[in-house]
Amino acid sequence: MVGTALLRKLPGMLLVLGVLATPVGSSAAEPSAAQEIGAGNAQFGKQKVQSENCQECHGLNGVGLAPSAPKLAGQYANYLVKQLQDFQSGARRHPVMTAMAESLSDDDRADIAAWFSSSQPMSGSGAIPSLIARDLFIRGDFNRNILPCKSCHGETGRGQYAETGSYPVIGGQHMIYLREQLRNWRAEIRTNSAGGIMNSIAKALSDEEIEALASYISGM
Ligand code: HEC
Ligand code: HEC
Repeated sequence: MVGTALLRKLPGMLLVLGVLATPVGSSAAEPSAAQEIGAGNAQFGKQKVQSENCQECHGLNGVGLAPSAPKLAGQYANYLVKQLQDFQSGARRHPVMTAMAESLSDDDRADIAAWFSSSQPMSGSGAIPSLIARDLFIRGDFNRNILPCKSCHGETGRGQYAETGSYPVIGGQHMIYLREQLRNWRAEIRTNSAGGIMNSIAKALSDEEIEALASYISGM
C-alpha cells in the first residue's frame, strides 16, 4: 500500500514542480488523456466531491445549475489543481471557495481534478452571433494590446495544454461566471494568471465587450 501511495503521489509532485509539464510525444494543442486527467484517481475524486459537497454548486459531473459557480466538466486537471491551490494560498480569493479549498490535501486536489476533467466536457448551446466578440476572440486588437483569445484558449474555447501549465477551457462555460471573471481580472480582484496576462487583456475591454465576449464564449 505504501508503495502504491508513493507511486500515485510521485507524478503529482513532478507535475507541481513542472517536470512533467512538457507534453511528451504530443503537440501542445492536443493533450494526451494523462495530461488532461493528471495524476489523480478519478473514482476517489468522485467520492471526495460527494463527501465535501462540491456537487451542491458544481454538480456531481461538473455542470451545476448555479450560474456563478463554474462548470468544471472537461476542464484541464492541472488548471483545476492550480485553482484549488490558489484558493488555499490566498492567491485567488472567494469567500465560499477559500473555505471549501482550505482542508484539501494534495491527493484530494489531484483526485477531484481527475474526476471532473474526465467528465463529459462542458459545452454551450450554440455561439450567440456577435461581430464584436468574434473579432476580439479571433483577431484581438493589437492597437489596444488585446491578444486574440483564440491564441491561448483555442479556436473553439477548448483551451490547450501548454508548457507553462494549461490555458483553461472557457467555451461552453456559464455566461454569468465568464462575465464575472472578466470583470474581476479587469478590476484586479483576480490576479492569479501567470505574468498578469489576463489582467492586462481585460483592462483593455469595455463593459460592452465583456458582455459580448461572455455571451459568445458561453455558447461555444
Ligand atoms: C456554495 C457553492 C460552492 C461549493 C459548495 C463549491 N464551490 Fe467551487 N466555486 C463556487 C463559485 C461561486 C466559484 C467561482 C469563484 C470566483 O468567482 O472566483 C467556484 C470556483 C471553483 C473552481 C475554479 C474553477 C475555474 O474555472 O477557475 C474550482 C476548481 C472549484 N470551485 C472547485 C470546487 C471543489 C473541489 C469544491 C468542493 C471541495 C467546491 N468547488 C465547492 C461555488 C462553490
Ligand atoms: C496569452 C494567453 C492568453 C490569452 C491571449 C487569453 N487568455 Fe484568458 N487565460 C489565460 C490563462 C493562463 C488563464 C488561467 C489563469 C489562472 O491560472 O488562473 C486564463 C483565464 C481566463 C478566464 C478564466 C477561466 C476560468 O475558468 O476561471 C477567462 C474567462 C478568460 N481567460 C477569458 C479570456 C478572453 C475572453 C480572452 C480574449 C479577450 C483571453 N482570455 C485571452 C491565458 C490567456
